[in-house]
Amino acid sequence: MPPTDHPAWTALREHRRELDSLHVRDLFEADPGRFGRFHAELGDVLVDFSKHRITNVTLRLLIELAEQAQVPRWTEAMFSGERINRSEDRAVLHTALRHQAATPVLEGGRDVMPDVREVLARMRTYARAVRGGQQLGRTKLPFTDVVNIGIGGSDLGPKMVTTALAPYHHDRLRCHFVSNIDPTDVQQVLRQVDPNTTLFLIVSKTFTTQETMANARSARAWFVANTGDEAAIAKHFVAISTNHEAVSAFGIAPEATFGFWDWVGGRFSLWSAVGLSIMLVIGPQRFDELLRGAYRADEHFRHTPLAHNVPVILALLGVWYHGFWGAETHAILPYDQNLSLFPAYMQQADMESNGKQIDRDGRRVALDTGPIVWGEPGTNGQHAFYQLLHQGTRLVPCDFLAAANSHAPLGAQHEILLSNFFAQTEALMRGRSREEAAALLDNSSAASLSPDRRELLTAATSFHGNRPSTSILYPLLTPGILGSLIALYEHKIFVQGLIWEVNSFDQMGVELGKTLAQDVLRDLEGEAPVSSHDASTNALINAYKRMRSR
Ligand code: F6P
Repeated sequence: MPPTDHPAWTALREHRRELDSLHVRDLFEADPGRFGRFHAELGDVLVDFSKHRITNVTLRLLIELAEQAQVPRWTEAMFSGERINRSEDRAVLHTALRHQAATPVLEGGRDVMPDVREVLARMRTYARAVRGGQQLGRTKLPFTDVVNIGIGGSDLGPKMVTTALAPYHHDRLRCHFVSNIDPTDVQQVLRQVDPNTTLFLIVSKTFTTQETMANARSARAWFVANTGDEAAIAKHFVAISTNHEAVSAFGIAPEATFGFWDWVGGRFSLWSAVGLSIMLVIGPQRFDELLRGAYRADEHFRHTPLAHNVPVILALLGVWYHGFWGAETHAILPYDQNLSLFPAYMQQADMESNGKQIDRDGRRVALDTGPIVWGEPGTNGQHAFYQLLHQGTRLVPCDFLAAANSHAPLGAQHEILLSNFFAQTEALMRGRSREEAAALLDNSSAASLSPDRRELLTAATSFHGNRPSTSILYPLLTPGILGSLIALYEHKIFVQGLIWEVNSFDQMGVELGKTLAQDVLRDLEGEAPVSSHDASTNALINAYKRMRSR
Protein backbone atom coordinates (compact mmCIF):
# COMPACT_ATOMS: atom_id res chain seq x y z
CA MET A 1 0.00 0.00 0.00
CA PRO A 2 1.52 3.41 -0.94
CA PRO A 3 2.41 5.40 2.18
CA THR A 4 -0.07 8.10 1.23
CA ASP A 5 -2.91 5.55 1.59
CA HIS A 6 -2.20 4.93 5.27
CA PRO A 7 -4.80 6.61 7.52
CA ALA A 8 -1.93 8.17 9.50
CA TRP A 9 -0.69 9.89 6.32
CA THR A 10 -4.05 11.57 5.81
CA ALA A 11 -4.14 12.55 9.47
CA LEU A 12 -0.62 13.97 9.24
CA ARG A 13 -1.60 16.03 6.19
CA GLU A 14 -4.48 17.57 8.17
CA HIS A 15 -2.29 18.07 11.21
CA ARG A 16 0.43 19.72 9.12
CA ARG A 17 -2.07 22.42 8.06
CA GLU A 18 -2.80 23.18 11.71
CA LEU A 19 0.91 23.81 12.27
CA ASP A 20 1.23 26.51 9.61
CA SER A 21 1.74 29.26 12.14
CA LEU A 22 3.58 27.15 14.68
CA HIS A 23 6.98 28.39 15.87
CA VAL A 24 9.12 26.01 17.90
CA ARG A 25 10.31 28.96 20.02
CA ASP A 26 6.72 29.39 21.27
CA LEU A 27 6.46 25.70 22.05
CA PHE A 28 9.55 25.92 24.24
CA GLU A 29 8.18 29.00 26.00
CA ALA A 30 4.85 27.32 26.67
CA ASP A 31 6.26 23.99 27.81
CA PRO A 32 9.27 23.68 30.12
CA GLY A 33 9.06 19.89 29.84
CA ARG A 34 9.56 19.85 26.07
CA PHE A 35 13.17 18.66 26.14
CA GLY A 36 12.23 15.95 28.63
CA ARG A 37 9.69 14.50 26.25
CA PHE A 38 11.60 14.98 23.03
CA HIS A 39 14.99 13.49 23.70
CA ALA A 40 16.32 9.96 23.94
CA GLU A 41 19.45 8.26 25.16
CA LEU A 42 21.15 5.28 23.68
CA GLY A 43 23.93 4.28 26.06
CA ASP A 44 26.06 7.41 26.30
CA VAL A 45 24.62 9.00 23.16
CA LEU A 46 22.13 11.80 23.83
CA VAL A 47 19.75 12.59 20.98
CA ASP A 48 17.78 15.83 21.29
CA PHE A 49 14.92 16.22 18.84
CA SER A 50 13.02 18.88 20.75
CA LYS A 51 13.98 21.63 18.26
CA HIS A 52 11.77 20.08 15.58
CA ARG A 53 8.42 21.27 14.29
CA ILE A 54 6.58 18.65 16.26
CA THR A 55 4.02 18.37 19.02
CA ASN A 56 2.84 15.33 20.96
CA VAL A 57 0.21 14.84 18.27
CA THR A 58 2.81 14.92 15.48
CA LEU A 59 4.88 12.27 17.16
CA ARG A 60 1.84 10.11 17.87
CA LEU A 61 0.71 10.27 14.24
CA LEU A 62 4.21 9.57 12.95
CA ILE A 63 4.43 6.52 15.19
CA GLU A 64 1.05 5.39 13.86
CA LEU A 65 2.46 5.78 10.37
CA ALA A 66 5.39 3.54 11.30
CA GLU A 67 2.96 0.98 12.69
CA GLN A 68 0.80 1.11 9.57
CA ALA A 69 3.93 0.67 7.42
CA GLN A 70 4.63 -2.43 9.56
CA VAL A 71 8.06 -1.27 10.65
CA PRO A 72 8.29 -3.79 13.53
CA ARG A 73 7.41 -6.72 11.25
CA TRP A 74 9.98 -5.71 8.62
CA THR A 75 12.60 -5.07 11.28
CA GLU A 76 12.17 -8.59 12.59
CA ALA A 77 12.24 -9.90 9.03
CA MET A 78 15.60 -8.20 8.46
CA PHE A 79 17.19 -9.45 11.68
CA SER A 80 15.91 -12.97 11.13
CA GLY A 81 17.40 -13.32 7.66
CA GLU A 82 14.30 -13.10 5.45
CA ARG A 83 15.14 -12.18 1.87
CA ILE A 84 13.88 -8.63 2.16
CA ASN A 85 16.14 -7.47 -0.68
CA ARG A 86 13.63 -8.84 -3.15
CA SER A 87 15.09 -7.59 -6.42
CA GLU A 88 18.37 -9.37 -5.70
CA ASP A 89 16.61 -12.14 -3.73
CA ARG A 90 18.97 -11.72 -0.78
CA ALA A 91 18.84 -11.48 2.97
CA VAL A 92 20.11 -8.29 4.60
CA LEU A 93 22.23 -9.36 7.51
CA HIS A 94 24.96 -6.82 8.18
CA THR A 95 23.66 -6.96 11.77
CA ALA A 96 24.98 -10.56 11.97
CA LEU A 97 28.50 -9.19 11.53
CA ARG A 98 28.26 -7.51 14.93
CA HIS A 99 25.95 -9.99 16.64
CA GLN A 100 27.34 -10.57 20.15
CA ALA A 101 24.87 -13.07 21.62
CA ALA A 102 25.28 -16.84 21.53
CA THR A 103 22.02 -17.18 19.59
CA PRO A 104 22.18 -18.26 15.93
CA VAL A 105 21.47 -15.92 13.01
CA LEU A 106 19.77 -17.87 10.28
CA GLU A 107 20.01 -17.32 6.55
CA GLY A 108 18.22 -19.88 4.40
CA GLY A 109 17.86 -22.06 7.51
CA ARG A 110 21.63 -22.06 8.18
CA ASP A 111 23.39 -20.29 11.06
CA VAL A 112 25.81 -17.74 9.57
CA MET A 113 27.57 -17.04 12.85
CA PRO A 114 30.24 -19.78 12.64
CA ASP A 115 31.41 -18.33 9.30
CA VAL A 116 31.29 -14.77 10.63
CA ARG A 117 33.35 -15.75 13.67
CA GLU A 118 35.82 -17.74 11.60
CA VAL A 119 36.61 -14.77 9.32
CA LEU A 120 36.81 -12.45 12.31
CA ALA A 121 39.23 -14.82 14.01
CA ARG A 122 41.43 -14.97 10.89
CA MET A 123 41.35 -11.18 10.65
CA ARG A 124 42.39 -10.86 14.28
CA THR A 125 45.29 -13.30 13.88
CA TYR A 126 46.46 -11.53 10.76
CA ALA A 127 46.09 -8.04 12.24
CA ARG A 128 47.97 -9.03 15.38
CA ALA A 129 50.81 -10.44 13.30
CA VAL A 130 51.08 -7.30 11.14
CA ARG A 131 50.83 -4.98 14.12
CA GLY A 132 53.22 -7.04 16.23
CA GLY A 133 55.82 -7.22 13.47
CA GLN A 134 55.64 -11.01 13.02
CA GLN A 135 54.06 -10.75 9.57
CA LEU A 136 56.83 -9.15 7.54
CA GLY A 137 57.37 -7.86 4.04
CA ARG A 138 59.69 -9.35 1.43
CA THR A 139 62.82 -7.81 2.98
CA LYS A 140 61.86 -8.99 6.48
CA LEU A 141 60.88 -5.51 7.57
CA PRO A 142 57.60 -4.82 9.37
CA PHE A 143 54.83 -3.15 7.41
CA THR A 144 54.54 0.61 7.79
CA ASP A 145 51.78 1.40 5.29
CA VAL A 146 48.42 -0.12 4.43
CA VAL A 147 46.87 0.83 1.09
CA ASN A 148 43.16 0.05 0.80
CA ILE A 149 42.12 -0.15 -2.86
CA GLY A 150 38.33 -0.14 -3.25
CA ILE A 151 35.46 2.17 -4.11
CA GLY A 152 31.99 2.99 -2.77
CA GLY A 153 31.21 0.76 0.18
CA SER A 154 34.63 -0.87 -0.16
CA ASP A 155 36.27 2.50 0.46
CA LEU A 156 33.99 5.01 2.20
CA GLY A 157 33.33 2.98 5.35
CA PRO A 158 36.93 1.98 6.08
CA LYS A 159 38.15 5.47 5.15
CA MET A 160 35.58 7.23 7.34
CA VAL A 161 36.17 4.95 10.33
CA THR A 162 39.98 4.96 10.15
CA THR A 163 39.85 8.76 9.94
CA ALA A 164 37.39 8.99 12.82
CA LEU A 165 39.49 6.71 15.01
CA ALA A 166 42.88 8.25 14.23
CA PRO A 167 43.59 8.75 17.95
CA TYR A 168 43.63 4.94 18.30
CA HIS A 169 46.02 4.21 15.44
CA HIS A 170 49.05 1.97 15.76
CA ASP A 171 52.23 4.08 15.94
CA ARG A 172 53.90 2.40 12.99
CA LEU A 173 51.01 1.88 10.58
CA ARG A 174 49.74 4.54 8.22
CA CYS A 175 46.59 3.94 6.22
CA HIS A 176 45.95 5.19 2.67
CA PHE A 177 42.94 4.89 0.42
CA VAL A 178 42.81 4.65 -3.35
CA SER A 179 39.38 4.68 -4.98
CA ASN A 180 39.20 6.92 -8.03
CA ILE A 181 39.99 5.58 -11.50
CA ASP A 182 41.73 8.91 -12.07
CA PRO A 183 45.40 7.80 -12.20
CA THR A 184 46.33 10.73 -10.00
CA ASP A 185 44.74 9.00 -7.02
CA VAL A 186 46.81 5.82 -7.06
CA GLN A 187 49.98 7.64 -8.08
CA GLN A 188 49.71 10.13 -5.25
CA VAL A 189 49.58 7.27 -2.77
CA LEU A 190 52.30 5.16 -4.41
CA ARG A 191 54.62 8.16 -4.31
CA GLN A 192 54.38 8.17 -0.52
CA VAL A 193 55.07 4.50 0.21
CA ASP A 194 57.94 2.01 0.11
CA PRO A 195 57.04 -1.25 -1.68
CA ASN A 196 59.06 -3.28 0.81
CA THR A 197 56.95 -2.18 3.75
CA THR A 198 53.55 -1.69 2.13
CA LEU A 199 50.55 -3.95 2.39
CA PHE A 200 47.87 -3.65 -0.32
CA LEU A 201 44.31 -4.60 0.49
CA ILE A 202 42.23 -5.11 -2.66
CA VAL A 203 38.68 -4.69 -1.44
CA SER A 204 35.78 -5.45 -3.73
CA LYS A 205 32.63 -7.40 -3.01
CA THR A 206 32.31 -8.40 -6.68
CA PHE A 207 36.02 -8.20 -7.61
CA THR A 208 34.90 -6.91 -11.00
CA THR A 209 34.55 -3.18 -10.29
CA GLN A 210 36.37 -1.35 -13.06
CA GLU A 211 38.03 1.29 -10.87
CA THR A 212 39.22 -1.12 -8.21
CA MET A 213 40.55 -3.70 -10.64
CA ALA A 214 42.42 -1.06 -12.68
CA ASN A 215 43.95 0.46 -9.53
CA ALA A 216 44.83 -3.00 -8.21
CA ARG A 217 46.59 -3.89 -11.47
CA SER A 218 48.50 -0.60 -11.40
CA ALA A 219 49.56 -1.18 -7.81
CA ARG A 220 50.69 -4.72 -8.63
CA ALA A 221 52.66 -3.54 -11.69
CA TRP A 222 54.28 -0.78 -9.60
CA PHE A 223 55.16 -3.30 -6.90
CA VAL A 224 56.78 -5.73 -9.34
CA ALA A 225 58.58 -2.92 -11.19
CA ASN A 226 60.02 -1.59 -7.94
CA THR A 227 60.96 -4.88 -6.32
CA GLY A 228 61.50 -7.20 -9.28
CA ASP A 229 59.94 -9.81 -7.03
CA GLU A 230 56.72 -11.23 -8.44
CA ALA A 231 56.65 -14.00 -5.84
CA ALA A 232 56.45 -11.41 -3.06
CA ILE A 233 52.94 -10.44 -4.21
CA ALA A 234 51.75 -13.24 -1.94
CA LYS A 235 53.11 -11.35 1.07
CA HIS A 236 52.12 -7.83 0.06
CA PHE A 237 48.66 -8.26 -1.50
CA VAL A 238 45.53 -9.29 0.35
CA ALA A 239 42.05 -9.64 -1.15
CA ILE A 240 38.71 -9.01 0.51
CA SER A 241 35.81 -10.24 -1.55
CA THR A 242 32.84 -12.53 -1.96
CA ASN A 243 34.14 -13.61 -5.39
CA HIS A 244 36.86 -16.16 -4.63
CA GLU A 245 37.26 -17.25 -8.26
CA ALA A 246 38.03 -13.74 -9.48
CA VAL A 247 40.45 -13.26 -6.57
CA SER A 248 42.44 -16.32 -7.48
CA ALA A 249 42.39 -15.33 -11.18
CA PHE A 250 43.98 -12.05 -10.08
CA GLY A 251 46.76 -14.05 -8.44
CA ILE A 252 45.93 -13.77 -4.74
CA ALA A 253 45.99 -17.06 -2.86
CA PRO A 254 43.16 -18.30 -0.58
CA GLU A 255 45.42 -17.83 2.50
CA ALA A 256 45.59 -14.12 1.69
CA THR A 257 41.87 -13.82 1.02
CA PHE A 258 39.24 -12.77 3.54
CA GLY A 259 35.71 -13.51 2.45
CA PHE A 260 32.29 -12.16 3.17
CA TRP A 261 28.82 -12.95 1.88
CA ASP A 262 26.20 -11.71 -0.55
CA TRP A 263 23.88 -10.85 2.35
CA VAL A 264 26.24 -7.99 3.25
CA GLY A 265 25.49 -4.92 1.13
CA GLY A 266 28.55 -2.96 0.00
CA ARG A 267 27.52 0.19 1.87
CA PHE A 268 26.92 -1.83 5.05
CA SER A 269 30.11 -3.85 4.85
CA LEU A 270 32.65 -2.07 7.04
CA TRP A 271 31.79 -4.54 9.85
CA SER A 272 33.00 -7.45 7.73
CA ALA A 273 36.47 -8.22 6.35
CA VAL A 274 36.01 -4.99 4.37
CA GLY A 275 37.00 -3.37 7.67
CA LEU A 276 40.40 -5.09 7.72
CA SER A 277 42.21 -1.75 7.25
CA ILE A 278 40.32 -0.50 10.32
CA MET A 279 41.34 -3.52 12.36
CA LEU A 280 44.96 -3.22 11.23
CA VAL A 281 45.30 0.36 12.42
CA ILE A 282 43.14 0.32 15.57
CA GLY A 283 43.72 -3.30 16.56
CA PRO A 284 41.35 -6.24 17.08
CA GLN A 285 40.25 -5.14 20.55
CA ARG A 286 39.14 -1.70 19.38
CA PHE A 287 37.50 -3.26 16.33
CA ASP A 288 35.49 -5.44 18.71
CA GLU A 289 34.44 -2.30 20.59
CA LEU A 290 33.23 -0.85 17.28
CA LEU A 291 31.16 -4.00 16.66
CA ARG A 292 29.80 -3.96 20.21
CA GLY A 293 28.76 -0.32 19.83
CA ALA A 294 26.85 -1.21 16.68
CA TYR A 295 25.28 -4.21 18.43
CA ARG A 296 24.04 -1.91 21.22
CA ALA A 297 22.25 0.16 18.57
CA ASP A 298 20.93 -3.02 16.90
CA GLU A 299 19.46 -4.26 20.17
CA HIS A 300 17.94 -0.88 20.87
CA PHE A 301 16.41 -0.75 17.39
CA ARG A 302 15.10 -4.28 17.53
CA HIS A 303 13.59 -4.21 21.01
CA THR A 304 12.63 -0.62 21.89
CA PRO A 305 9.00 0.44 21.41
CA LEU A 306 8.62 2.72 18.39
CA ALA A 307 7.86 5.82 20.48
CA HIS A 308 11.28 5.62 22.17
CA ASN A 309 13.23 4.07 19.34
CA VAL A 310 15.97 6.49 18.25
CA PRO A 311 16.47 5.37 14.63
CA VAL A 312 12.70 5.15 14.16
CA ILE A 313 12.20 8.68 15.50
CA LEU A 314 15.05 10.07 13.34
CA ALA A 315 13.54 8.33 10.30
CA LEU A 316 10.06 9.66 11.01
CA LEU A 317 11.34 13.22 11.39
CA GLY A 318 12.86 12.95 7.92
CA VAL A 319 9.62 11.55 6.52
CA TRP A 320 7.79 14.46 8.16
CA TYR A 321 9.95 17.13 6.51
CA HIS A 322 10.36 15.48 3.12
CA GLY A 323 6.73 14.41 2.87
CA PHE A 324 4.89 17.33 4.46
CA TRP A 325 7.13 20.39 4.49
CA GLY A 326 8.81 20.16 1.08
CA ALA A 327 12.36 19.64 2.39
CA GLU A 328 14.54 18.12 -0.32
CA THR A 329 17.86 17.77 1.43
CA HIS A 330 19.24 16.72 4.77
CA ALA A 331 22.45 18.14 6.23
CA ILE A 332 24.84 16.22 8.48
CA LEU A 333 27.04 18.61 10.40
CA PRO A 334 29.63 17.02 12.68
CA TYR A 335 31.23 19.41 15.17
CA ASP A 336 33.95 16.82 15.44
CA GLN A 337 36.90 16.94 13.05
CA ASN A 338 37.37 13.20 13.44
CA LEU A 339 33.97 12.78 11.78
CA SER A 340 34.98 14.88 8.78
CA LEU A 341 34.11 12.03 6.39
CA PHE A 342 30.86 11.08 8.14
CA PRO A 343 28.69 13.18 5.76
CA ALA A 344 30.32 11.62 2.67
CA TYR A 345 29.86 8.14 4.14
CA MET A 346 26.22 8.84 4.94
CA GLN A 347 25.69 10.20 1.46
CA GLN A 348 26.32 6.76 -0.01
CA ALA A 349 24.54 4.92 2.80
CA ASP A 350 21.41 7.02 2.36
CA MET A 351 21.29 8.04 -1.30
CA GLU A 352 22.27 4.65 -2.70
CA SER A 353 19.69 3.05 -0.40
CA ASN A 354 16.68 5.30 -0.78
CA GLY A 355 17.29 7.17 -4.04
CA LYS A 356 14.64 5.04 -5.74
CA GLN A 357 11.56 5.75 -7.84
CA ILE A 358 9.96 2.35 -7.91
CA ASP A 359 8.50 0.68 -4.87
CA ARG A 360 9.14 -2.81 -3.56
CA ASP A 361 6.66 -4.20 -6.09
CA GLY A 362 8.09 -2.33 -9.06
CA ARG A 363 5.41 0.36 -9.24
CA ARG A 364 6.20 4.05 -9.57
CA VAL A 365 6.28 5.60 -6.09
CA ALA A 366 3.61 8.11 -5.18
CA LEU A 367 5.87 10.69 -3.52
CA ASP A 368 9.45 11.84 -3.19
CA THR A 369 11.77 9.32 -1.58
CA GLY A 370 15.36 9.64 -0.33
CA PRO A 371 16.67 13.15 0.29
CA ILE A 372 19.90 14.67 -0.95
CA VAL A 373 22.33 14.16 1.91
CA TRP A 374 25.22 16.52 2.34
CA GLY A 375 27.32 18.25 4.94
CA GLU A 376 30.67 19.42 6.20
CA PRO A 377 32.23 19.62 9.62
CA GLY A 378 31.36 22.59 11.81
CA THR A 379 32.66 25.21 12.12
CA ASN A 380 33.87 25.26 8.48
CA GLY A 381 30.32 25.05 7.18
CA GLN A 382 29.34 28.14 9.18
CA HIS A 383 31.60 30.22 6.98
CA ALA A 384 30.36 28.62 3.79
CA PHE A 385 26.72 27.53 3.53
CA TYR A 386 25.05 28.30 6.88
CA GLN A 387 23.76 31.58 5.43
CA LEU A 388 21.32 29.48 3.41
CA LEU A 389 20.46 27.33 6.42
CA HIS A 390 19.56 30.41 8.47
CA GLN A 391 18.02 32.79 5.96
CA GLY A 392 17.58 30.92 2.67
CA THR A 393 14.16 30.09 1.26
CA ARG A 394 14.70 26.34 1.53
CA LEU A 395 14.06 24.21 4.55
CA VAL A 396 17.04 22.02 5.43
CA PRO A 397 16.64 19.71 8.42
CA CYS A 398 20.07 19.26 10.02
CA ASP A 399 21.81 16.78 12.30
CA PHE A 400 24.44 18.32 14.54
CA LEU A 401 26.91 15.89 16.13
CA ALA A 402 29.49 16.71 18.80
CA ALA A 403 31.74 15.06 21.35
CA ALA A 404 31.78 16.56 24.85
CA ASN A 405 35.50 15.82 25.04
CA SER A 406 38.26 16.13 22.51
CA HIS A 407 41.00 13.60 21.80
CA ALA A 408 43.27 16.58 21.15
CA PRO A 409 42.45 19.26 23.72
CA LEU A 410 44.18 22.57 23.13
CA GLY A 411 43.53 25.58 25.32
CA ALA A 412 39.91 26.69 25.06
CA GLN A 413 39.47 25.50 21.48
CA HIS A 414 37.19 22.55 22.16
CA GLU A 415 34.94 24.69 24.34
CA ILE A 416 34.76 27.30 21.57
CA LEU A 417 33.82 24.55 19.11
CA LEU A 418 31.03 23.38 21.40
CA SER A 419 29.78 26.91 21.99
CA ASN A 420 29.24 27.08 18.22
CA PHE A 421 27.50 23.70 18.22
CA PHE A 422 25.00 24.88 20.86
CA ALA A 423 24.61 28.39 19.44
CA GLN A 424 23.88 27.27 15.90
CA THR A 425 20.99 24.97 16.76
CA GLU A 426 19.58 27.59 19.11
CA ALA A 427 19.87 30.31 16.46
CA LEU A 428 18.29 28.11 13.80
CA MET A 429 15.37 27.42 16.10
CA ARG A 430 14.88 30.84 17.76
CA GLY A 431 15.84 33.14 14.92
CA ARG A 432 15.79 36.88 15.57
CA SER A 433 12.54 38.83 15.34
CA ARG A 434 12.24 42.21 13.56
CA GLU A 435 11.83 43.87 16.93
CA GLU A 436 15.02 42.28 18.23
CA ALA A 437 16.86 43.22 15.04
CA ALA A 438 15.60 46.83 15.26
CA ALA A 439 16.61 47.08 18.92
CA LEU A 440 20.10 45.88 18.06
CA LEU A 441 20.37 48.59 15.40
CA ASP A 442 19.18 51.23 17.88
CA ASN A 443 22.04 50.32 20.17
CA SER A 444 24.69 50.38 17.48
CA SER A 445 26.41 52.89 15.24
CA ALA A 446 23.60 52.21 12.72
CA ALA A 447 21.25 54.26 14.92
CA SER A 448 22.04 57.39 12.91
CA LEU A 449 21.28 55.83 9.48
CA SER A 450 18.47 57.02 7.22
CA PRO A 451 15.05 55.36 7.82
CA ASP A 452 15.26 53.53 4.48
CA ARG A 453 18.60 52.04 5.29
CA ARG A 454 17.53 51.16 8.81
CA GLU A 455 14.49 49.41 7.36
CA LEU A 456 16.65 47.46 4.94
CA LEU A 457 19.12 46.49 7.66
CA THR A 458 16.32 45.46 10.00
CA ALA A 459 14.95 43.13 7.33
CA ALA A 460 18.39 41.76 6.47
CA THR A 461 19.35 41.05 10.07
CA SER A 462 16.05 39.39 11.03
CA PHE A 463 15.85 35.60 11.10
CA HIS A 464 12.55 33.79 11.07
CA GLY A 465 14.04 30.80 12.89
CA ASN A 466 11.88 27.69 13.26
CA ARG A 467 14.57 25.74 11.38
CA PRO A 468 14.68 22.16 12.61
CA SER A 469 17.72 20.34 13.88
CA THR A 470 18.61 17.22 15.83
CA SER A 471 21.54 17.43 18.25
CA ILE A 472 23.55 14.30 18.93
CA LEU A 473 25.98 14.61 21.84
CA TYR A 474 28.33 11.93 23.14
CA PRO A 475 31.17 11.96 25.68
CA LEU A 476 34.08 11.12 23.34
CA LEU A 477 34.37 9.61 19.87
CA THR A 478 35.40 6.10 20.93
CA PRO A 479 35.12 3.01 18.70
CA GLY A 480 32.01 1.97 20.64
CA ILE A 481 30.27 5.33 20.25
CA LEU A 482 31.16 5.44 16.56
CA GLY A 483 29.77 1.93 16.07
CA SER A 484 26.49 2.99 17.68
CA LEU A 485 26.26 6.17 15.61
CA ILE A 486 26.79 4.40 12.29
CA ALA A 487 24.29 1.66 13.14
CA LEU A 488 21.70 4.24 14.24
CA TYR A 489 21.92 5.89 10.84
CA GLU A 490 21.81 2.54 9.02
CA HIS A 491 18.55 1.71 10.78
CA LYS A 492 17.15 5.19 10.24
CA ILE A 493 17.72 4.73 6.49
CA PHE A 494 16.08 1.30 6.59
CA VAL A 495 12.98 2.64 8.36
CA GLN A 496 12.63 5.49 5.88
CA GLY A 497 12.88 3.00 3.03
CA LEU A 498 10.11 0.96 4.69
CA ILE A 499 7.82 3.95 4.93
CA TRP A 500 8.53 5.04 1.36
CA GLU A 501 8.12 1.38 0.37
CA VAL A 502 11.38 1.16 -1.56
CA ASN A 503 13.96 -1.61 -1.46
CA SER A 504 16.82 0.10 0.38
CA PHE A 505 19.25 -2.71 -0.41
CA ASP A 506 19.78 -2.77 -4.15
CA GLN A 507 21.49 -0.12 -6.32
CA MET A 508 20.42 -0.74 -9.90
CA GLY A 509 20.68 2.98 -10.67
CA VAL A 510 24.47 2.90 -10.86
CA GLU A 511 24.50 0.30 -13.64
CA LEU A 512 23.51 2.32 -16.72
CA GLY A 513 26.42 4.74 -16.43
CA LYS A 514 28.83 1.83 -15.92
CA THR A 515 27.60 0.05 -19.07
CA LEU A 516 27.72 3.18 -21.19
CA ALA A 517 31.25 3.94 -20.02
CA GLN A 518 32.37 0.52 -21.31
CA ASP A 519 30.88 1.34 -24.74
CA VAL A 520 32.37 4.81 -24.79
CA LEU A 521 35.80 3.45 -23.86
CA ARG A 522 35.78 1.46 -27.11
CA ASP A 523 34.81 4.60 -29.03
CA LEU A 524 37.83 6.43 -27.64
CA GLU A 525 40.21 4.11 -29.51
CA GLY A 526 41.70 5.54 -32.72
CA GLU A 527 41.49 8.99 -34.21
CA ALA A 528 38.35 8.60 -36.32
CA PRO A 529 35.53 10.88 -35.19
CA VAL A 530 32.52 9.15 -33.68
CA SER A 531 28.92 9.68 -34.71
CA SER A 532 27.01 6.97 -32.88
CA HIS A 533 25.92 9.05 -29.87
CA ASP A 534 23.76 12.13 -29.46
CA ALA A 535 25.17 15.34 -30.94
CA SER A 536 26.51 16.64 -27.64
CA THR A 537 28.30 13.41 -26.69
CA ASN A 538 29.71 13.00 -30.24
CA ALA A 539 31.04 16.57 -30.19
CA LEU A 540 32.61 16.16 -26.74
CA ILE A 541 34.29 12.86 -27.65
CA ASN A 542 35.61 14.31 -30.91
CA ALA A 543 36.90 17.43 -29.15
CA TYR A 544 38.66 15.17 -26.66
CA LYS A 545 40.27 13.21 -29.52
CA ARG A 546 41.62 16.44 -30.98
CA MET A 547 42.84 17.75 -27.61
CA ARG A 548 44.51 14.65 -26.22
CA SER A 549 48.24 14.48 -26.63
CA ARG A 550 49.65 11.47 -28.36
O1 F6P B 1 28.55 1.04 -8.10
C1 F6P B 1 28.05 1.03 -6.82
C2 F6P B 1 28.63 -0.09 -6.04
O2 F6P B 1 28.06 -1.29 -6.45
C3 F6P B 1 28.42 0.12 -4.54
O3 F6P B 1 27.19 -0.29 -4.10
C4 F6P B 1 29.55 -0.65 -3.98
O4 F6P B 1 29.78 -0.31 -2.64
C5 F6P B 1 30.65 -0.25 -4.92
O5 F6P B 1 30.02 -0.18 -6.18
C6 F6P B 1 31.84 -1.14 -4.95
O6 F6P B 1 31.52 -2.46 -5.32
P1 F6P B 1 32.53 -3.63 -5.09
O7 F6P B 1 32.78 -3.75 -3.64
O8 F6P B 1 31.88 -4.83 -5.66
O9 F6P B 1 33.81 -3.29 -5.82
